[in-house]
Amino acid sequence: MTATLLRGRILSFLRWPETAEDMAACRYEEDGGLLLRDGVIADAGPFDEVKARAGADVPVIDHRPHLILPGFIDCHAHMPQMQVIASYGTELLGWLNTYTFPEESKFVDAQHGRRISRLFLDEVIRHGTTTVVAYCSVHEQSAQAFFAESHERNMLNIAGKVMMDRNAPEALRDTPQSSYDDTKALIAEWHGRGRQHYAVTPRFAITSTPEQMEMAQALMREHPDLHLQTHLSENRAEIEFTQELYPWSRDYTDIYERYGLLGPKSLFGHCIHLSEREADAMSETGSVAVFCPTSNLFLGSGLFDYLRYRRRPKPLRISVASDVGGGTNYSMLRTMDEGYKVIALNGEKLNPLASFWQLTRGNAEALSLSHRIGTLEKGTEADIIVLDSSANPGMRLRMETVRTLAEELFLLQTLGDDRAVAEVYVAGKPAKSVLGTK
Ligand code: GUN
Ligand code: ZN
Repeated sequence: MTATLLRGRILSFLRWPETAEDMAACRYEEDGGLLLRDGVIADAGPFDEVKARAGADVPVIDHRPHLILPGFIDCHAHMPQMQVIASYGTELLGWLNTYTFPEESKFVDAQHGRRISRLFLDEVIRHGTTTVVAYCSVHEQSAQAFFAESHERNMLNIAGKVMMDRNAPEALRDTPQSSYDDTKALIAEWHGRGRQHYAVTPRFAITSTPEQMEMAQALMREHPDLHLQTHLSENRAEIEFTQELYPWSRDYTDIYERYGLLGPKSLFGHCIHLSEREADAMSETGSVAVFCPTSNLFLGSGLFDYLRYRRRPKPLRISVASDVGGGTNYSMLRTMDEGYKVIALNGEKLNPLASFWQLTRGNAEALSLSHRIGTLEKGTEADIIVLDSSANPGMRLRMETVRTLAEELFLLQTLGDDRAVAEVYVAGKPAKSVLGTK
């Protein structure tokens, strides 16, 4: 198997950076080398040393002066919402009924699912995301399409067929039994095949009957190593309606709690309006709150209190995500730019090193996958991005005055988008430059 040696300014993170000066939290190699072999990072360090160990024959791809980082991880996005993104003028429940449900109904057509899955993963890669945690539609064929496309690209992705059996148009409703059967079949076919991971995906408490929640519970009992994804506490009207549907519950989180759905592999989208009791329950179970800033601003849902959740006596595990198509951009740079502004509206600032920790190692830790992705450690999987901080005239000009790595990262976050992603490697192979050529 041939190896490839990447050369550039290599940056990864060892832990949460406390401040913009906390370079001890980073591993940074000004003239670094990353040796990729068999889809894995076989060696890393100063370029000259890695090159000497690799031998004179190894082909070198010189990415200088660009930055080389672990690929971005997007912990919550909806594949079937590519033609929902940028739909005007509603809050969550109206947006679901007016735009989202009609669009998701089209995924009864397997061919449509295949087309959108292909374009979705193209777009994800173009923006520098190498792992996405995706919702498919209620139709099992949409998840089939997603996994087939993801497997062909050898991406490490996590996805699931949405379970929903009420409060949605008939064409989008499954039943408790069919959602269980379809999910079981998808797990058997796809979970652990290549780099594919299955996530049990009850959409949210509003669209699942208690009988379906029991099915989700049974699936998690039978497959305790799986991820689970759902939505929690996004919007005031949603919370109110949820409480009407589950009148016995103490609060929204209590519903998922009673069905045994909290836990370290459970990903809860939004978590904006949690009470202290709910946040404690999330923390005690190691559940993950997924911050979706562009979506929360676009739908007017509210301001996720990122730093307070991190600092509370019982801290929350947090990840960050695009939530396309409630979210408004595929780019995790654009996402963190909006995240910074949400945190600013909460009266605080997130330092740029912490932002990029979150998009890489932080999100990998939240997915319990940092032993495989998000770090550039030797032996981990070679999902890598190359970032160009001078990707457009405005960035190039601003770079003239940048003095530190933290300033450069902040520039990338504030002004960057897909144009700043010069190349993407998925399992050691170029994936962006080859889009549209196969
Ligand atoms: N809650 C339930 N479904 C959805 C969805 O598709 N997007 C968002 N943002 N919230 C949801
Ligand atoms: Zn969502």
